Amino acid sequence: MNAPDGHDRTRTVRLSFAHRVHFTRGAFDRANDALPAALADDAAVASRRAVVLIDEGVRSAQPDIEDRIRACFASHPARLPRIVAVETVAGGERAKEDMRLVDRVIELVEKHAIDRKSFVFAIGGGAMLDAVGFGAATAHRGVRLVRLPTTTLAQDDAAMGVKNGVNRFGKKNFVGAFAVPYAVVCDESLLSTLPPAVFRAGFSEAVKIALLKDPAFFAGIERVASAIAACDLDASSPVIRRSAELHLAHIVDGGDPFEANEARPLDFGHWAAHRLESMSAHAVSHGDAVALGLLLDCRYSNLKGWLSDAEHARIRACVAALGLPMRHALFADTKRLLAGLEEFREHLGGQLTVTMLRAIGHGFEVHELDADLVRRAAAEMA
Ligand SMILES: NC(=O)c1ccc[n+]([C@@H]2O[C@H](COP(=O)([O-])OP(=O)(O)OC[C@H]3O[C@@H](n4cnc5c(N)ncnc54)[C@H](O)[C@@H]3O)[C@@H](O)[C@H]2O)c1
Ligand SMILES: [Zn+2]
Repeated sequence: MNAPDGHDRTRTVRLSFAHRVHFTRGAFDRANDALPAALADDAAVASRRAVVLIDEGVRSAQPDIEDRIRACFASHPARLPRIVAVETVAGGERAKEDMRLVDRVIELVEKHAIDRKSFVFAIGGGAMLDAVGFGAATAHRGVRLVRLPTTTLAQDDAAMGVKNGVNRFGKKNFVGAFAVPYAVVCDESLLSTLPPAVFRAGFSEAVKIALLKDPAFFAGIERVASAIAACDLDASSPVIRRSAELHLAHIVDGGDPFEANEARPLDFGHWAAHRLESMSAHAVSHGDAVALGLLLDCRYSNLKGWLSDAEHARIRACVAALGLPMRHALFADTKRLLAGLEEFREHLGGQLTVTMLRAIGHGFEVHELDADLVRRAAAEMA
């Protein structure tokens, strides 16, 4: 149907997706119902096929994991798909450094006849989930992805999202796709083998979202920060779940899941974080980089007079109690650091939009940064 002037009319394409998220412990135990429950919407699930991919870090820390997964699927033959392949794949940022893992997922989808109703299960950290998710989003233009995040960061943030991708040209997440996972099952018992630094690093994302949206949650993190630093899972669990809930709510109810707008409100502290990761050739993990990036932007907010000295001191004390890094030598290289701002703007398009802090629980957007003040804040953290 054409408008009178001959141009096609603009229509709106509306899409809706189920976003199924379950938290549990012991997901592969015979008596645990989380995995079958997560797939229960598909009445024909037993006739589907599944490729299971395991992060190499998880595989080496939990050598019996494949046996446990196979036993779990075998004990629910009517409620879970049939496993056609289990493979160990790269974990950590290495998984995202090139297209190899993405290509491998696409090959496996072809080799094992995974159709668009069949499944790729990805069991691993945020980096591996990002790369596998990109492969799963592009093979057949999207097969079903079930994420089982195995790090604190992946459970409290990354696995909730609809973003998949890998790094190119030394730039984080340069290539990727938005795709909603079929299901996310967070098994907290999988976190038990995390190295302490990886365990702690995930809580920078919880601090970030508490600072942006929820002062009571921030106070809750303060109360258990030293237990988190000691990797106490029972103390950490409510923080992981609340952070996941807030990240999920932002995606589901925030009105911009595929980031059409210029603002990316959840990326508080991330312009510098992504830059530090690239500048350090990923020696600084994402979680640690976020802790450093948010401290930088908190200090900037404080120097601008937006954030009070008292609240600024509280934030620094909380990050310290969590055992997260507070300074890094790369902050001395302010020229390269500031180039990250342009990279951040270019990734989103339009004008620069960075989130800053007015108070704990209250983020707001700015469209320019005072380079001298950024340099001053960075110099203090070098
Ligand atoms: N898609 C998103 O919305 C989103 C959001 C936040 C972060 N991310 C991305 O997530 C990545 C960081 O993920 P991460 O913090 O989970 O770290 P990671 O995936 O890099 O994993 C860290 C290390 O822990 C190992 N590991 C994972 N689980 C383990 C376990 N249970 N026991 C022992 N070792 C284990 C891994 O093999 C790896 O060596 C970054 O690339 C970041 O950009 C994505
Ligand atoms: Zn992040």
